[in-house]
Amino acid sequence: MEFSHKPVLLSECLEGLQIRKDGVYVDCTLGGGGHSYEIAKQLGPEGMLIGIDQDDDALAAANARLAEFSCFRSVKANFSELSGVLRSFKLSGADGILFDLGVSSYQLDNGARGFSYHTDAPLDMRMDTSKGQTAAELIADISHGALARILRDYGEERFASQIASAIVSAREKAPIETTFALRDIIVSAIPAGFAKREKQHPAKRSFQAIRIAVNNELFVAEEGIKAAIDSLNPGGRLCVISFHSLEDRITKVTMAKAAAGCNCPRDFPVCVCGASPSLKLITKKPITASEAELNENPRARSAKLRIAEKV
Ligand SMILES: C[S@@+](CC[C@H](N)C(=O)[O-])C[C@H]1O[C@@H](n2cnc3c(N)ncnc32)[C@H](O)[C@@H]1O
Ligand SMILES: [Zn+2]
Repeated sequence: MEFSHKPVLLSECLEGLQIRKDGVYVDCTLGGGGHSYEIAKQLGPEGMLIGIDQDDDALAAANARLAEFSCFRSVKANFSELSGVLRSFKLSGADGILFDLGVSSYQLDNGARGFSYHTDAPLDMRMDTSKGQTAAELIADISHGALARILRDYGEERFASQIASAIVSAREKAPIETTFALRDIIVSAIPAGFAKREKQHPAKRSFQAIRIAVNNELFVAEEGIKAAIDSLNPGGRLCVISFHSLEDRITKVTMAKAAAGCNCPRDFPVCVCGASPSLKLITKKPITASEAELNENPRARSAKLRIAEKV
């Protein structure tokens, strides 16, 4: 399948990264290489671009797309392991780091990966298919309470408890192993009148929630952003694109903490931690896609870009 992912907020990221020809850049979410291709074009032979992804299909597509650039290296890793990746290249830091969080259009559109309720496939949803629990395994033995929390916290699903009950009672009869089986159980648990009035598919929020849990997305996003802040050279730029409010909140809070420096409790009269700011916020409010981009790529609608600079 062709890997067609229109890079979101591309010119805004390129500008935000302030690319120098001889700098070291890391694309932590390589995907099909859309952003990386444009970064590599701006680098000279002395520059370096490292692309990280945990998905083998993404790495294969990006390697083919960026084969012409001698400055490009790709690595299969989770971006929470960023510091180790830089060490493996004997690099002490980077001049710019990009995150384009979440799943790619390719992962969503390739039904066989089990991310989509539009195609019947084994219920997988792992970005890295070489390790960890599949979605089918996760929902096979999770408690009702923990499942309801996932659906509520990661999917903002108002019928979280009802959907969790439906999953628990269905799995007592037969294991839930396919996307369509899960989709039908979710739909059956949502009041029909409510589902009809909704603009989006009634299974959308639950699929998003389970995918976030399977890939531990919020935890690794925070770890990755913290590692990126630590890894930047002074003056280096951090650009983070997020697609839902949970990711954007983590980005905002993690950047704000690094920009504040002191992390003493608010009621301490004086600072005792002695931490100084490691980041300067470049965007106070996130950048969103222009009308022109939205006309071309409706998926950019929920994208938010935050930019910061290492001090
Ligand atoms: C939205 S896509 C990136 C698309 C890319 N910017 C482009 O223009 O082609 C996100 C990519 O990041 C990868 N990814 C998400 N979380 C990751 C993580 N924790 N570690 C490594 N890769 C991750 C996914 O596998 C996916 O390929
Ligand atoms: Zn303090």
